[in-house]
Amino acid sequence: MKMRAAVLEEFGEPLVVQEVELRDPQPGEVLVRLVNCGVCHTDMYTASGADPSGYAPAVLGHEGAGVVERVGEGVTSLAEGDHVVTLFSPQCGECVHCVDPRTNLCMAIRAEQNLGHLPDGTTRLKRPGDGGEDIRHFMGTSTFAEYTVMPEIALAKIDPEAPLDGACLFACGLSTGLGAAMNTAKVQEGTTCVVFGAGMVGLGAVAGCRLQGAERIICVDLSDDRLELAKGQGATDLMKADENSVERILEMTDGGYGADYTFEATGNVKVMAQAVEAARMAWGLCTVAGVAGKGETLDVIPRWLITGRRVAGSSFGGVKGREGVPKLVDLWMQGEIDVDPFISHRITLDEVNKGFDLMEAQDGIRSVIEFQ
Ligand SMILES: NC(=O)c1ccc[n+]([C@@H]2O[C@H](COP(=O)([O-])OP(=O)(O)OC[C@H]3O[C@@H](n4cnc5c(N)ncnc54)[C@H](O)[C@@H]3O)[C@@H](O)[C@H]2O)c1
Ligand SMILES: [Zn+2]
Ligand SMILES: [Zn+2]
Repeated sequence: MKMRAAVLEEFGEPLVVQEVELRDPQPGEVLVRLVNCGVCHTDMYTASGADPSGYAPAVLGHEGAGVVERVGEGVTSLAEGDHVVTLFSPQCGECVHCVDPRTNLCMAIRAEQNLGHLPDGTTRLKRPGDGGEDIRHFMGTSTFAEYTVMPEIALAKIDPEAPLDGACLFACGLSTGLGAAMNTAKVQEGTTCVVFGAGMVGLGAVAGCRLQGAERIICVDLSDDRLELAKGQGATDLMKADENSVERILEMTDGGYGADYTFEATGNVKVMAQAVEAARMAWGLCTVAGVAGKGETLDVIPRWLITGRRVAGSSFGGVKGREGVPKLVDLWMQGEIDVDPFISHRITLDEVNKGFDLMEAQDGIRSVIEFQ
């Protein structure tokens, strides 16, 4: 079939919205009509060429939500009309990691996904016409497009009542933040938490800490507007970031020991070090969710660890997508998470590059594409 999609043709250049061809879903695959898609830093990072593992031509986009249009042979868990959220982090349910409750890093299709292929090593995307060049899939999702073909194991079936413009945010940053607090750190009731960064991920972490029953949630950011949003998600203390953030946090916490849980959601390795330092001696746990630039390292004084601080990383918030995303969406539907403040701009697919500009200007949390 023919459809419109935003193609990364050349690194460092705007995406080109154009007609491309999408081949039929193969066994185990599903054709999804996208209704909404968030525009995320990872898309912009890849488009810029800064990511050495990036490839072109490719259809970008990974924060998609839509409706199942058709299923390929052997697909049993999804049917036409189901509402789904796309998962760049799939859940096959069978691999060594899927069967272990400690991780969400499914290994089933990782290698081919990293190459921009669907699991059988080929693409469904191509340029129109006979012999048209193949176009690769980005993050296994390619949701800057009217339709996508994805493996069944990379689609989470959600409550059909959930508005898809909010649901798409659960495809990446929001679930990452919520999960960092709820799955990775497993924040305990009555504790003190610090969240560095109040973007989509950090705000999700604030909400996750609140849902876990944290008593105090200190949010640290450079922007007053973003701190205000953190308040809306349950932050009890707001702090404008500077080089003394750690000292100020220690002063604010009981006995000057630091926080029970800290979260880093900026991608800045200096902030990661601050998050380790602000974690309480004896048992403080620092969860790193931000993605650092290639080659950057985290500088940790070993004494911080010997005296009981721990550091954990969290990919997609440790959420096993097919099981976990529908549950998080249900929490939203029950009124436990306020998603509307995260949708800052509504744009068309043709305006996708404007979505990047808005992100660069830090204008709002998320631009959401609405497909017609
Ligand atoms: N682990 C994962 O699976 C995963 C998933 C999605 C995104 N991420 C990463 O998480 C990070 C955050 O993503 P986002 O979408 O929320 O980004 P964002 O840019 O919207 O938010 C980052 C926030 O950090 C703040 N900040 C910058 N410097 C700071 C400092 N010194 N102290 C305190 N705050 C500071 C900014 O003001 C901004 O509000 C990125 O690195 C992103 O790549 C990770
Ligand atoms: Zn994302
Ligand atoms: Zn798996």
